[in-house]
Amino acid sequence: MGSLAPRLRDPVLVTGAFGLVGRAVVERLLADGRAVVASDLDTPAFHRWARRLGRLHGERGAFRADPADLTDEHQTRHLVWSNRPRAVVHLAAVIPPACYQRPGLARRVNVEATGHLVEAVAAASAPPRFVLASSVAVYGRRNPHRTSDLLTAATPVAPSDLYGEHKVEAETLVRERLASFAVLRLGGVLSADVGGAGTGMASMDFEGMLPTDQRITTVEVRDVARAFAAAVALPDDVLAAVAGRTFLIGGDETHRLVQGAITPAITAAMGLEDAVPPGRPGDPDDDASWFATDWMDTAESQAVLDYQRISWPDLLQEVHDRAGARRYAFRLAAPVLNEVIRRRPARLRAVGRTHADPWGDVAATFGSPREH
Ligand SMILES: NC(=O)c1ccc[n+]([C@@H]2O[C@H](COP(=O)([O-])OP(=O)(O)OC[C@H]3O[C@@H](n4cnc5c(N)ncnc54)[C@H](O)[C@@H]3O)[C@@H](O)[C@H]2O)c1
Repeated sequence: MGSLAPRLRDPVLVTGAFGLVGRAVVERLLADGRAVVASDLDTPAFHRWARRLGRLHGERGAFRADPADLTDEHQTRHLVWSNRPRAVVHLAAVIPPACYQRPGLARRVNVEATGHLVEAVAAASAPPRFVLASSVAVYGRRNPHRTSDLLTAATPVAPSDLYGEHKVEAETLVRERLASFAVLRLGGVLSADVGGAGTGMASMDFEGMLPTDQRITTVEVRDVARAFAAAVALPDDVLAAVAGRTFLIGGDETHRLVQGAITPAITAAMGLEDAVPPGRPGDPDDDASWFATDWMDTAESQAVLDYQRISWPDLLQEVHDRAGARRYAFRLAAPVLNEVIRRRPARLRAVGRTHADPWGDVAATFGSPREH
């Protein structure tokens, strides 16, 4: 626990800093000239990443790494007390599908640790702005055959899994205890830097379970980072005028996709044409068989936070460009990968079925998606 480096002036404390969103947020804040304290679990990989950033930004007093396990109340209090941040961006979480595999840990991190952090912030003599990462999962399952409206910040929350429940509880902790806060409900976060977080076999299994015609608003991770940086900087009177201080964070209208279109487009852009076997559509007559994503109205978040820069075609172009000459090797590997994915137990379970059964498949492969 703790860091021996000197304290920074008015830093932004970022939790979950070494995650997919965290790394982009830290880089954005540093590029904007902010001082950043990056916190995550105390692992060798976190330290390797932090050392590199420390070399680039540490000398001008802009960067400090301060690992902590936020489930430990004492470590969390010390993190806030010793760094005296002017703002906290709280990203640390256990997300799907890992949260279904370890529901107890997920509750400790997603809810209890958020509570520790909120209390530590509330106890500060000048409480910092608190920006919470929430999720579209708070709205629960969405059957597109029965709903045509876009999700807005005013849409009632109705979580249908433990992750969505955790996020609703975390939001409540923040809303009830703090005065200066913003809640950012993120859509499906993608990175043009394919190969980072979220591309392992568990993620591949999980994606294959989701209805191919499930609506989802995606967003490139650097645009998410712009939204968080803007929420940190927003004057409090502007923030107070936003209903519920809640923002739906997704890409522009080109990011209104269906689940089954995402991976094929990204893998094709890499040269991995037809590498991923298609999944199944949702059952129009069975609301319970749909997953917890939908299209989001991002007009207000964009008007206030001005963060959308990377369209879906831009993202695919960048994936293509980054793959470069490796695309030829990928093309050869595609049929092998297709075969490997087809034989995964999660895929075999669905053979012969007409419709997707995301919650049944999650329960069979990872663990119950419900807490109780
Ligand atoms: N990725 C998405 O599509 C998405 C969508 C909606 C919302 N979100 C939310 O955005 C935030 C960031 O997501 P992400 O995709 O970067 O997730 P991620 O899993 O890549 O990163 C989460 C980070 O939290 C850290 N962490 C976990 N337990 C911790 C603990 N006890 N103490 C300290 N750190 C701990 C992990 O080490 C990890 O680096 C999360 O709150 C997530 O719920 C993400």
